[in-house]
Amino acid sequence: MKVFRDPIALQQELRALPESIGFVPTMGALHLGHRTLIDEARRDSDIVVVSIFVNPAQFLAGEDLQSYPRKEEADRRICELSGVDYLFYPDVEAMYGSDEVWVSAPDVRGFILEGYSRPGHFDGVLTVVLKLFNIVAPTRAYFGKKDAQQLALIEQMAENFFLHVDIVAVDTVRDSDGLALSSRNVYLSDVERREALKIASALKHAGKMMAQGVRDATRLKQEMQHIMASLEVEYIAFLNREFHHIDQVEIGNTIVLIAARVGDTRLIDNMQL
Ligand code: PAJ
Repeated sequence: MKVFRDPIALQQELRALPESIGFVPTMGALHLGHRTLIDEARRDSDIVVVSIFVNPAQFLAGEDLQSYPRKEEADRRICELSGVDYLFYPDVEAMYGSDEVWVSAPDVRGFILEGYSRPGHFDGVLTVVLKLFNIVAPTRAYFGKKDAQQLALIEQMAENFFLHVDIVAVDTVRDSDGLALSSRNVYLSDVERREALKIASALKHAGKMMAQGVRDATRLKQEMQHIMASLEVEYIAFLNREFHHIDQVEIGNTIVLIAARVGDTRLIDNMQL
């Protein structure tokens, strides 16, 4: 595995390769969710590139940029063992200048839910992903459905900017108890972790009710809210694939999204139907 810190050097190296490139962008503290993305890339492509960059542009003032888990050595080992060919580990200075061209998230998808709670977050995500795509020039790039709104926006950016890359969506990887894996789960105490499980339970319960024929989003939300009563729920949203709010569930065209705080940790999860 080759490790690069310089974007231009990596770009030149990859540009010279004739093979297909599978790319997995991450912020590190790698877990089984990230490894699943890497495994899929390994299956589909000749060369696998992983980037690890805690992107300051997507953290708002007061968020966990400073304390975000950084595990360079462990991450490097995981990448090596997962058969990654290139690990890109840039410094902030290598990725950003002082006054730059910026990508703006679109009005609808960009400013509801996460975009509403974290204004500017998606501009930072889209900007760094576009930079990374231009450095790596991947054939395919892998993103988790865990971050459903991020995935939808990246798909939209690829379409709107005519990017020459296939975006591959990967199912959410969960612990055996149902908790969606996240780098931020390390912040949770044992008690908080048990509380956090209520998020996955609420989604599961809603899934069961929908299987029994319940379609009314308000009723489903009330039941989910009840299960998560001890959490600070930021939103429970029922959207269609266009990211418009819906009152009635349409099977095959519905996504249910949750953001909730457990102690100081903000967690998101979702389920697609
Ligand atoms: P990060 O949170 O490190 O996630 C990197 C990728 O792993 C994302 O595509 C995310 O959706 C996926 N992922 C995280 N947890 C997952 C899980 N439990 N199951 C499946 N996939 C999972 O998302 C980011 O970094 C950043 O915003 C980034 C896209 C790298 C831009 O900075």
